[in-house]
Amino acid sequence: MPSYKYSQKRFFVENLSIENIAKKNITPFYLYSSSQIRDNFSNFVKSFKNINPLVCFSVKSNSNPFILKFLKKLGSGADVVSQGELLKALRAGIKPSKIVFSGVGKSEEELRIAIKKKILLINVESESEALLVNKLSKKMKRKTTIGIRLNPNIYANTHKKISTGKAEDKFGLSKNELLKLCLKISKFKNLKLIALSVHIGSQILSDNPFKKSLNVISDVIKKTKIKFKYIDLGGGFGISYKKNDKKIKLNNYSKLVYKFKKKFNCEIIFEPGRSIIGNAGILVAKVQYLKKAKNKTFAVLDAGMNDFMRPALYDAVHEIVPVIQNNKRTKSIVEFVGPVCETSCKFIKYKNYQKLSENNFVAILNVGAYGSSLSSNYNTRPLISEFLVYKNKFKTIRKRQNLLELIKV
Ligand code: LLP
Repeated sequence: MPSYKYSQKRFFVENLSIENIAKKNITPFYLYSSSQIRDNFSNFVKSFKNINPLVCFSVKSNSNPFILKFLKKLGSGADVVSQGELLKALRAGIKPSKIVFSGVGKSEEELRIAIKKKILLINVESESEALLVNKLSKKMKRKTTIGIRLNPNIYANTHKKISTGKAEDKFGLSKNELLKLCLKISKFKNLKLIALSVHIGSQILSDNPFKKSLNVISDVIKKTKIKFKYIDLGGGFGISYKKNDKKIKLNNYSKLVYKFKKKFNCEIIFEPGRSIIGNAGILVAKVQYLKKAKNKTFAVLDAGMNDFMRPALYDAVHEIVPVIQNNKRTKSIVEFVGPVCETSCKFIKYKNYQKLSENNFVAILNVGAYGSSLSSNYNTRPLISEFLVYKNKFKTIRKRQNLLELIKV
């Protein structure tokens, strides 16, 4: 996280002291670095330079309108999974020709909007969905460009709750079902099949599953005998949450995709989310109480699982660092927990953490992806503020939800 670093024991985002920001604002809050987002985006594009892919940022990872606008300016398209995300992407100025729509359960209304807006691809995930898109397109006198999502039955070696490419997962069509649908597709007069898409899972840290997936796709393309204009290879590129998480080697994968692109003479689409925004965000919280318990001390933060779900949902590990460092260490175990009335509202445990006091500020790291976008009002807690450092200035990009609004009947 090069945009976040300590200087003289104070934690900084770009050139701004996080303590100063925390003192002036209600905690907890999300804080993002635009220079980190820009670097992540341009590094991603650089890794696939020879391929010149269309990069469609996965809006579900972070759907803050300002962040979407910022990514649009960097040249990003959008991968959306709902009407809300589609409308947000359009409002951010992203052209329909750079938007792809995935998801197993798109409603009629969502499909109608996607057809009307003439987005680049509706990636259909079942024959019934293809039928419905065809029927709606006919009514609307349109020929809709679609992709079909393949379930390549690949083990992505990631958390079971974020794996999407195994046969038992609900996503996409098996090779056989996909081939059957391809044979019928010419009968669907209002559809134009131009793409094949896959997405095998998220937080993948090895290029192996991606390579395997490419092999399955190659095999399927040959069998369909269809000339696809686009191959949408999805997202899933992992980031380092823990110090010894190995880094994914995008360059190796890039070489393979290059060969693949040459062989099939197609355009490549990627749908990265986490690798663009994950390490660009932190969540700043205050230690509300310190409470001694058997063999440990609880540091009760003012941020809870409703603000940041990943630890409770996936046992995800997110480091928590002090906003001001000191040289004093505790002997007892410190467990960071939140205020929500659930045992799983807890974050991380440390041995020998630095000595904390009540009202100290801390930062939960790497929360840019699936942080604010997964937050909720559970326990009737308002959604928290989001701030962005942009051109060396601090900017509010979402106001803290007003409690009176929230409790209105
Ligand atoms: N494309 C499709 C079709 C997807 O379903 C996803 C994520 C992506 C792209 C973006 O994947 P990424 O590059 O961010 O890995 N909430 C979970 C992650 C769920 C991912 C869902 N799909 C978490 O916090 O780990």
